[in-house]
Amino acid sequence: MPLMPPAIRSATLDDVPMILIIEQQAASAAHWPAEEYERLVKTGVVLVAEQAGQFRGFVCAKAVVGEWEIENVVVATEFLCQGIANQLMQALIEQAEKRAASRILLEVRESNLPARRLYEKYAFREVGRRRKYYRNPVEDAVLYARRSRI
Ligand SMILES: CC(C)(COP(=O)(O)OP(=O)(O)OC[C@H]1O[C@@H](n2cnc3c(N)ncnc32)[C@H](O)[C@@H]1OP(=O)(O)O)[C@@H](O)C(=O)NCCC(=O)NCCS
Repeated sequence: MPLMPPAIRSATLDDVPMILIIEQQAASAAHWPAEEYERLVKTGVVLVAEQAGQFRGFVCAKAVVGEWEIENVVVATEFLCQGIANQLMQALIEQAEKRAASRILLEVRESNLPARRLYEKYAFREVGRRRKYYRNPVEDAVLYARRSRI
């Protein structure tokens, strides 16, 4: 039987341990300490995807007036390629537009093609590079921005 599409909801502080577990399982994800996720739950936007009450993934962003910045988007390894990031990204963009953000920014490893294709699908456009920005391995960061329709 096909799985139901995930339900998307705002994270609470109780979600931070699960966020850390799936983030740490994803080598290509950005890695932040618990305090950073707690700060984003309190002052930014953290959305969680669940199916049958089970945690499947999250997206988080700083939400400074007018300009948001995605800090991470991660889907649990066993549930990749099932449209969960699609749902998370649509929900994040909807919230950013509702709250009158004019741009959403992010940076990603050059080699992270699944994430780059995801961002490009949602109209993020490459706006620059930071040369040799990442370590282990050394790699460029690609900077993306998405302008709101509003
Ligand atoms: C990037 C990531 C979040 C995508 O999650 P997902 O739930 O598997 O993605 P979806 O199934 O919703 O796919 C959405 C779109 O992403 C892109 N995509 C996802 N996986 C892809 C892959 N393996 N190769 C190419 N494009 C891919 C496609 O554009 C896809 O749209 P399509 O199905 O219409 O082609 C997931 O691969 C992940 O968690 N990666 C590890 C963490 C990470 O690197 N995050 C980025 C930090 S900057």
